[in-house]
Amino acid sequence: MSHEDFPTDDPAVVTCGLPYANGDLHVGHLRTYVGGDVYARALERLGQRTAFVSGSDMHGTPVAVNAEQEGVSPEEFALKWHERYAETFPKFNVEFDNYGHTHDETNVQLTRDLVRELDDRGHVYEKTIMVAYDPIDDQYLPDRYVEGTCPYCGAQARGDECDEGCQRHLEPGEIEEPVSTITGNPAEYRERTHKFFEVSEFADYLSEFLDRLEGTSNARNQPREWIEQGLQDWCITRDMDWGIDYPDDDAGSDDDGSDDDGSDDGGDGDGNGDDLVLYVWVDAPIEYISATKQYTERVGADVFDWESAWRDDADHDGGQIVHVIGRDIIQHHTIFWPAMLHASGHTEPRAVMASGFVTLGGKGFSTSRDRAVWADEYLDEGFHPDLLRYYLATNGGFQQDVDFSWERFRERVNTELVGTIGNFLYRSLLFAHRNYDGAPATVDAPSDEVEARIDEAKAAVAEAVNDYSIRDLGDAVTHLAGFGNEYIQRNEPWSLVDEEPDAAAQVIYDCVQIAKAIAVLFEPIAPEKCERLWAQLGEDGSVHETTLDDAGAPPAGAFDEPDELFEKIPEERVEELNAKLEERVAAATEGEASAESDDEDETADHDEEGAVAADDVDLEPVAEDRIGFEEFEDLDLRVGRILSAEGIEGADKLARLEVDIGVETRQIVAGIKQLHDLDAIEGKTVIVLANLERAELFGVESNGMVLAAGEEADLLTTHGDAEPGETVR
Ligand code: MSP
Ligand code: ZN
Repeated sequence: MSHEDFPTDDPAVVTCGLPYANGDLHVGHLRTYVGGDVYARALERLGQRTAFVSGSDMHGTPVAVNAEQEGVSPEEFALKWHERYAETFPKFNVEFDNYGHTHDETNVQLTRDLVRELDDRGHVYEKTIMVAYDPIDDQYLPDRYVEGTCPYCGAQARGDECDEGCQRHLEPGEIEEPVSTITGNPAEYRERTHKFFEVSEFADYLSEFLDRLEGTSNARNQPREWIEQGLQDWCITRDMDWGIDYPDDDAGSDDDGSDDDGSDDGGDGDGNGDDLVLYVWVDAPIEYISATKQYTERVGADVFDWESAWRDDADHDGGQIVHVIGRDIIQHHTIFWPAMLHASGHTEPRAVMASGFVTLGGKGFSTSRDRAVWADEYLDEGFHPDLLRYYLATNGGFQQDVDFSWERFRERVNTELVGTIGNFLYRSLLFAHRNYDGAPATVDAPSDEVEARIDEAKAAVAEAVNDYSIRDLGDAVTHLAGFGNEYIQRNEPWSLVDEEPDAAAQVIYDCVQIAKAIAVLFEPIAPEKCERLWAQLGEDGSVHETTLDDAGAPPAGAFDEPDELFEKIPEERVEELNAKLEERVAAATEGEASAESDDEDETADHDEEGAVAADDVDLEPVAEDRIGFEEFEDLDLRVGRILSAEGIEGADKLARLEVDIGVETRQIVAGIKQLHDLDAIEGKTVIVLANLERAELFGVESNGMVLAAGEEADLLTTHGDAEPGETVR
């Protein structure tokens, strides 16, 4: 991969997978939007000129099906959701430079231009294929209007994707034993002439593209397999009203190209292209370009030029395009979309960051079954948006699936945001205010040690951005705050103030400098909190406007008494929230058992896939991402023997264990209080992850982790007589 490091002189565009305008947003969706927002802010922090864009995905069968159920036109239905999303994102401090939608004039126009360009360059052809058709209802059944059996793996699948099985995109006509999702009628196959984009011609290009592609490794590995298996051409039209008309012979006409009369012309069966609209996955990603164009129209090309970002031709070099998505839509972003871009003279993506899924109790979120933590619900519970941003950005690597848990959320907030970052800021700024009214005026530069430590944090942030790791970005800041705590503790300014006032002033100045650096470096993750910290430090303007170097710039000076930036979440809150959630998940699961196959809502659920195993067993799918043996070797796994186990007072689930791991005895906190008879496990042989970071759980230090399997925390043990301290390989 030969890309120049960020920041570059080119314009960059960060995009987020467009939400289907068909229902409430949940915490799973937010992983895409928070991820994109954090990344775009971090790029700007590095001094990279960046446009951050997205929009609502208005077309396609998911929207049409839901609108039909509500008895309103797809346009009215989709616009309602579009407006909701445009209001919701800023509540999570997700601030797009432009948020459009796929049905707006810009997108209709650009879509038609781009498709015409593909056609003119000879990359589109017509072919007669068999498509599903409901003979009783006299209606064609594209995509989500039909269900059946996946021809590749035999799983029950939707017309356009094998959502519960092999995850493949399915072409029209591929699904076996088709059934209409609207009427339940068995469907038949009829001949229809459709337009095809010759993706297969681009296999070599795409292979090379994948070698250049940056971002998360899942976005390269999976598509490489698909290419090896042979690419099929892609049907880019559908027998539907709702969508953007195929730009046939009417070039230059003033028709806006979108078809929103809601009339049903699906049943004439004449094979004529007139009533064909473009497949939703054609016009949806083009919104990335349209939204950027609208941004340029608003701010002027001198601020951001969409064409120099998106065009890669004789007159333009192309910019740096970064797509942030969930892992369910990798194929669209690494096969179809780059082929479309390449074939039409546009800039190929530099990176695709594909997040793992957020699951609930190991299962996929389900909109129709209310098995989800909703975006609005989170805010209604009174939590600050930046806490969820932190949790989503740093709880696990971006491509790992994450099971949402209020317990874990609370733990991260209380340990890291309150315990490490908040604690450092409050104790040092309060001391500074009380003794010096702010940063001591007698000092004019940080100590060498602190300057070097801040430089290290800046470098870690820059590296995190170039590695597309928002978790590393968060870690860079918590580590800096951890250092701050250690620094103030080690230097004890409180005992120096009287005897060695200069030394005390230096330490406190250093701490204010670290606080300022935290505000600058943490803003991408916690923008509102850092804005407050910035004001607290008496700094001018907005921390959002700063760049990396401001982290080390001299502090403003005087400031008022600080207040605490983060508050602990009490355990009772979690118990309360868990109870609500458990009830909801149980109801959803019951609903599932009784609804079985005739659940018409299922068609609306794009987002239930991925984390769901083929049948009723709640098994997580095997991680897509392979790790190297060296990575495995990084884990120091040891045989241990439990010497004692006792419940931690006040904690429901936690127990404090003393474990002999041969070389030493470890205190380890484990969530097994209710799952095991603690007396009975004394003397048991277990497996311990010995080089896990120390953590504090319920005020008790945990130094390592005891491995256990499944919901019941079945403890891992050995079968022979391995002794404590022996290494597990
Ligand atoms: N409309 C398409 C994307 C078109 S992009 C040109 C779509 N919409 S969606 O509403 O289903 O999803 C919106 C975003 O949220 C996508 O990036 C998707 O991957 C992500 N997620 C939806 N459910 C999710 C989880 N449960 N977990 C993590 N990400 C999830 O796909
Ligand atoms: Zn399949």
